[in-house]
Amino acid sequence: MCGIIAYKGFRDGVNIVLEGLKLLEYRGYDSWGIAAKNEDIHVFKEVGKIGEIKKVNLLRSNICMGHTRWSTTGAVTKENSHPHLSCDNKIAVIHNGIIENYEELKKQLKNHNFASETDTEVIPHLIEENINLGFFEAVKKAANLIEGRSAFIAINKDNDEMIAVRTGAPLILGIGNNEYFIASDVPAFLDYTKDVNYLDDNEMVVIKDHPNFFNFRTGEEIKKRLITISWDKEQSKKGDYKHYLIKEIMEQKETINKAINQDEQEIQKIADEINNAFGTFFVGCGTSGKVCHAGEYLFSKIAKKHVNFVIASEFSNYHHFLTDETLMIVVTQSGETADVIEAIEAAKKENVKIISLVNVQGSTISLKSDYSLLVKAGPEKAVASTKTATSQLALLLLLAYASIGKLKEGKRLLIETSSMINDMLNLRYEEHIKRLAELIHKKEHAYIIGKSSNYPMALESAIKIQEVSYMHAEGFAAGELKHGPIALIEKNTPCIALVANDETKKDVLVNAQELKTRGAYIIGVAPEYNKIFDYWIKVPDAGDASPIVNIIPIQILSYHLALLRGHDPDYPRNLAKGVTVK
Ligand code: F6R
Repeated sequence: MCGIIAYKGFRDGVNIVLEGLKLLEYRGYDSWGIAAKNEDIHVFKEVGKIGEIKKVNLLRSNICMGHTRWSTTGAVTKENSHPHLSCDNKIAVIHNGIIENYEELKKQLKNHNFASETDTEVIPHLIEENINLGFFEAVKKAANLIEGRSAFIAINKDNDEMIAVRTGAPLILGIGNNEYFIASDVPAFLDYTKDVNYLDDNEMVVIKDHPNFFNFRTGEEIKKRLITISWDKEQSKKGDYKHYLIKEIMEQKETINKAINQDEQEIQKIADEINNAFGTFFVGCGTSGKVCHAGEYLFSKIAKKHVNFVIASEFSNYHHFLTDETLMIVVTQSGETADVIEAIEAAKKENVKIISLVNVQGSTISLKSDYSLLVKAGPEKAVASTKTATSQLALLLLLAYASIGKLKEGKRLLIETSSMINDMLNLRYEEHIKRLAELIHKKEHAYIIGKSSNYPMALESAIKIQEVSYMHAEGFAAGELKHGPIALIEKNTPCIALVANDETKKDVLVNAQELKTRGAYIIGVAPEYNKIFDYWIKVPDAGDASPIVNIIPIQILSYHLALLRGHDPDYPRNLAKGVTVK
């Protein structure tokens, strides 16, 4: 996934685009670049993160665009970073996504000189090839020729139009006073406007003096609805925190309450859909997938109802079981994850109803769903998902309660949990976990165990530790270690036991004792102390909401492990926020 932003207006766009790129950096940080139009189109590119760069060597420009890259086709080099240009340097393009047929198109553009290995570069050359039709028609033609999910923006030295095209990747037009912004995500221009138009697939917007929207397949002009977005611009900045990750972890003092502050009738309607469906699938990837997995346990425990959890990339195996009475509940932070989109498309072929829990308003998945509920965690910028995950968990728990007619009871539990999290997340608590990180940060391996809804949280703990600290971590169902993995335990291997104060507690403690006997260093995340623990991290006794409170200390631990091991917790290597490739 990459981040794109463009500006057309009366101010100096270079600075607006540079600052916007910094806010989009979570989407990709291999390299970046800006194109500014004056008499000519001038391009500035760099490999690496934008970081603290305050100024770039470009002249003031009212038509300007920039790109931050997470490489898919072509290595991380200056040549491969965007913007890309036509042979005559008159057309510049930035692009997010994949052009599946770029090799074929490149063959058809034999007389063009390509300067990079990227798929993107076919776009400026395709436009150049057809520029005799006029800029608009040439861009339209290019949009019709490329295959795959993407979004691009093109500018042309010879006129003042800016054209943006969406074929499956997000693109939002921000509307100011005689100025326009186009970006992959709204925080990039929140300093200037909250009024937006979301582009849908197969749509393009042409900005000359005003924006005009078209369906580029049919050529038909489209009227768009103006939406005022609810995110606050300060929410998407680091503020006094050193990193987004710790800021977003700390925001969990409030985010659970925000997540459950929903129209109760809507929650009840979704719960009724689950009750009435002939088979419900909870589908997601990565952390959102672990939330779905925990949801399966929550429904079993609270509602005595079986729902199926499936990782989105494995969903195609289940197509035999889909009918028009099946329900799919999709859980996603970004709303752009390619594996999830593919699962939705497979389900739609069988007329399955799609309900999504999405954090990003107007995202592809929310548009593709029959009904979409906003998770309301606010902008999540750190690559590792934290506050969104706990908000998603809260919503699934609430739905489980609603499905047995106990919505109010579920809400009460979550409000109490939220206030317990508020008390828990203080500086002393963070210091206590930091001390643990100091004790274990040089270890090669860590293992995490949990049972019932805390088993997926053990898996999620492993994802958190791996992705930000690069320490090898693995999560297990507590009872499974003795069936093989226990052979990995050596003297002082850190093993984290996620304990809930319920019927699973005894078993998890027994399993932790088995590890201790083999020399493991036992870290107990539990409401009550137990003598098995070598290090105890106290969590509130939150009943059914235990997976929500148990994952939070592991998020904090991962953050401090990353710092102690010398890594940037916000921008882990090889990753980007939202995975829009298969
Ligand atoms: C890990 C993480 C990822 C995402 C996964 C799905 O911290 O953030 O595992 O959970 O890529 O992304 P969404 O939720 O945007 O569909």
